[in-house]
Amino acid sequence: MSLNKNIILLLLFVFNIFPFEIQAQKVMQNAFGRENLSLNGAWQYIIDPYQMGYLDYRQKPFDQSKGGKGGFYDNITTPDKKTRVEYNFDFEPSLQVPGDWNSQDSRLLFYEGTLWYRKDFNVNQKQDKNYFLYFAAVNYECHVYLNGKKIGTHKGGFTPFQFDVTEKLNNGKNFVVVMVDNVRKKDEVPTINTDWWNYGGITRDVTLVSTPKSFIEDYKIQLAKNEKDVIEGFIQLKGATEKEKVTVEIPELKIKSSFTADENGFVKIKIPVKNIDYWSPENPKLYDVKISTKTDKNSDKIGFRTIKTVDKDIILNGKSIFLKGISVHDENPLVGGRLKSEGDIRMILNWAKELGCNYIRLAHYTHNETMLRLADEIGLMVWAEVPVYWTISWNNEETYKNAENQLAVGIERDKNRASVIIWSVGNETPVSKERNVFMGKLIDKVRAIDDTRLVAAALEIERDGYAVTVEDPLGDKLDLASFNEYGGWYWSEPKELPKYNFEIKFNKPVVISEFGADALAGFHADDDTVWSEEYQELFYKNQLNMLEKIDGLRGMTPWILVDFKSPRRQNPKYQNFWNRKGLISETGYKKKAYYILQNYYKNKNLNKK
Ligand code: GCU
Repeated sequence: MSLNKNIILLLLFVFNIFPFEIQAQKVMQNAFGRENLSLNGAWQYIIDPYQMGYLDYRQKPFDQSKGGKGGFYDNITTPDKKTRVEYNFDFEPSLQVPGDWNSQDSRLLFYEGTLWYRKDFNVNQKQDKNYFLYFAAVNYECHVYLNGKKIGTHKGGFTPFQFDVTEKLNNGKNFVVVMVDNVRKKDEVPTINTDWWNYGGITRDVTLVSTPKSFIEDYKIQLAKNEKDVIEGFIQLKGATEKEKVTVEIPELKIKSSFTADENGFVKIKIPVKNIDYWSPENPKLYDVKISTKTDKNSDKIGFRTIKTVDKDIILNGKSIFLKGISVHDENPLVGGRLKSEGDIRMILNWAKELGCNYIRLAHYTHNETMLRLADEIGLMVWAEVPVYWTISWNNEETYKNAENQLAVGIERDKNRASVIIWSVGNETPVSKERNVFMGKLIDKVRAIDDTRLVAAALEIERDGYAVTVEDPLGDKLDLASFNEYGGWYWSEPKELPKYNFEIKFNKPVVISEFGADALAGFHADDDTVWSEEYQELFYKNQLNMLEKIDGLRGMTPWILVDFKSPRRQNPKYQNFWNRKGLISETGYKKKAYYILQNYYKNKNLNKK
């Protein structure tokens, strides 16, 4: 940022006036591997559907008026007898953070609007440290205030962001106030129409991270593209005042290599290695990796593997692989709401392993970082995705910037995770010139940031009688021919499926990104009665037989592991605001179709047939 812009910003900040919203800064790598003061726990909250805490009665933001006072972020709790204050956090209930509000307060189950959070905390501030307020995710838009002063805003419900608060903390008592707004809007990402619950709030961890003045801000340490004996990547320092020495150690591989960062704190690394125990779902080997400089250190657990496609095959560590997958939403159906911790995330991943999976599709947005770290540990390959879903505003430049930012932040956060083999730029988007340009730019962006993984999207299909054709033009730019198909549910019926044939117009591996049918757990009838377990069971039998006919079929992620909540599923008898395509119900019950897929995976020959 140019000097004069910095000065203007400083002046505006001093007078607490923000003429425009300052977007969050670059996000540090592996924040939770550092010294942290967790801000998880009880936060008082105020429901504010009319944004009384943000706008005056002429709809002008309090924080952009002179002096910036008047909003709930002032956090006035003991006014004198002459001061009229129409809020008070001290007398409000609390929400648990991390956690969406919908599943914690019955008044908020369907709530789409503004809600304020407040958290008091103490810091024993050290002069030789930097301090960052780090949010793992807030859905959807938030404005953040520290000790009554605005420190920034963020948009995007599933990616992390942070603010440097080194100069804004009090030594001792502090309070942070966050205004969250989860109202769906046409030009946002996702747009207004989705098939998942619009969980609002501070849905993932919040922490105050401290670092030395010069610290390791980012790093990528992975195998070079298609080179199984060269580790390469980069280290990015922040705050370095000289060209610092950086050391990378992987003791188990007898690696201790040092490099010198340039004047910008950046250095590319390239380390020849021998005898790597390659990461795979069967052998999810992770190495302790230590990165250090004169003043800082961070450590991580990293797996090393190669992934590529050759014609219609997918090659993991030099061997052909079949992706035995399942789709997963970020939701704990047993207790409701977003997955919150290692415990419930591990449970979901173990359910996928028990089903016989070696692969999962994390639909339709960036999931919790813990999901990726546990996929590394448990041994599940991952399709990661951004919520470019259905009818996005393809012609809106701000919409594109938002989508690209969510994509880039997700890739930056998870670039060291061996489990991630595919970056997906979207799902089931209607073919048009504008959509092809928008998503084509996203594909180019992925390849520019990370050329070591595959790029995909859930493409569209064409149908003519019993002929299904896959020729979505976006496929030309992708590594996989991936598509959703709902034969036997949204079109045709299970017993008709054997008559269908697929023509795939790409010489690429075919990975079915979705197929599924609803069944209400415990509802039994003959197999052409929709909503019955028998219908779903026959559907899976015939789907699998139909798909097996596809030359180049190299994987699938049936929709979906567990029933999940959706505002679009109103049938009071069979759905009751649940999408019932799960193989497991929201009570943990395995439906009959579960065993059809489990048996198919158990007997599936991984190598190309
Ligand atoms: C679509 C979409 C899913 C949705 C599913 C369904 O393919 O990608 O997000 O839940 O169909 O209709 O159940």
